[in-house]
Amino acid sequence: STDKLWGGRFTAEGAQWIDTFGASISFDQLMADEDLEGSLAHVKMLKKTKILPATDADQIIKGLQELQTELAAGQLTFSIKNEDIHMNLESLLTQKIGPVAGKLHTARSRNDQVATDLHLYLKHRLPEVLTALSQLQKTIVKKAEKHIYTIMPGYTHLQHAQPISYGHYLMAYYQMFKRDIERFTFNQQHTDLCPLGAAALAGTTFPIDRQFTANELQFKGLYTNSLDAVSDRDFVLEFISNSSILMMHLSRFCEEIILWCSYEFNYIELSDEYSTGSSIMPQKKNPDMAELIRGKSGRIFGHLLGLLTTLKGLPLAYNKDLQEDKEGLFDTIKTIIPSLKIFTGMLDTLSVNEDKMEHATEHDFSNATELADYLASKGLPFRQAHAVVGKLVLKGTQDGTNLQDIPLTEFKKISPLITEDIYDDLKAKTAVTRRTSAGGTGFDEVAKQVQAAKADLKI
Ligand code: ARG
Repeated sequence: STDKLWGGRFTAEGAQWIDTFGASISFDQLMADEDLEGSLAHVKMLKKTKILPATDADQIIKGLQELQTELAAGQLTFSIKNEDIHMNLESLLTQKIGPVAGKLHTARSRNDQVATDLHLYLKHRLPEVLTALSQLQKTIVKKAEKHIYTIMPGYTHLQHAQPISYGHYLMAYYQMFKRDIERFTFNQQHTDLCPLGAAALAGTTFPIDRQFTANELQFKGLYTNSLDAVSDRDFVLEFISNSSILMMHLSRFCEEIILWCSYEFNYIELSDEYSTGSSIMPQKKNPDMAELIRGKSGRIFGHLLGLLTTLKGLPLAYNKDLQEDKEGLFDTIKTIIPSLKIFTGMLDTLSVNEDKMEHATEHDFSNATELADYLASKGLPFRQAHAVVGKLVLKGTQDGTNLQDIPLTEFKKISPLITEDIYDDLKAKTAVTRRTSAGGTGFDEVAKQVQAAKADLKI
């Protein structure tokens, strides 16, 4: 046999670079806390069910608790020789309490152990994601409330379409993040399941108590099928998938921030705290953080495709391929939480150039629909109204005038249906005010959205 933990049936040592290639300790040590927690719950169960004598179990419990203290103090060192976090900790326990440590792995396999660690790890971090998301929502709502009456051009195809409320624009993102929260909350259900006790794949002959360990670890439920328990990584996929959608939302928002703080738009200005300068051009104030968040969406999408591909075609139950599930997950967590926090700070501190936004709606043709609707409401078929206004827009683009610059006498020539009140309809403010359909940009409707959001968020 060799000196590996599993070396019994081996006569020769593995090639040296096999160890390095196969080891996961460089990254799975992030789950050290969870591994100790899982082991403690397991050994307490072994004691309670009398699978282990109390004296042995107590020694193991004491040893694990000491390891917890040493881990918290940063005193543990891990080695590649022991491959992964599970065997590293078991070997540290053996150093501490001797061969009795070998009893800890009774009725357990690394397969249900690693799955348990991963569930615990994600379960512990999901609340932080949800909190960061709701902080962002609060910032959005606060800003939206302040800007219900701020008018800006609404875009389709990045062309001026119809004027809207900036508060309405912000609340669109509120809705996206609300769905993100729903998705992560749903993900919590699949994460909050305990695989421990599935052992290698088939369960165990020992009279274990799975409910006991699940309770110890504060899991809401248990996996029903042992094969599923050790091979399921759907909860990780869901998390990265939800994170991908979240990053896509942030990235769209960032793209608009980047555009809008450009000289050409000049709708917003980022605070100094969330901007960076250039090493050569003294005038520069760059939206680096928005660009980075937009850029980081790429790596999260990559992790999603990576894990989907790893899982595709994997036969049941455990395969070493599954060791590839961790780095993408860890990196996703490490990326989305700061992205959310930085984005929230950036949004909170940016200032809005209300005049520039509103001005942009007054020197364009984003009131063309108003004129067409005006004619349609007076009985002209909408298609005809559309054509008439289209011709006026064409003429306006040629001679540099807008619809509100056309004298009433000219309007009358186009249609006797037009009277003096048209000039009010052509104002951006009127156009926004009048969009009172449910969920529309009408100021009252936006105020309702904001109120409902505040009630949801209890602010
Ligand atoms: N380091 C392994 C992983 O992350 C732990 C499980 C190993 N199980 C096994 N049968 N080799 O997947």
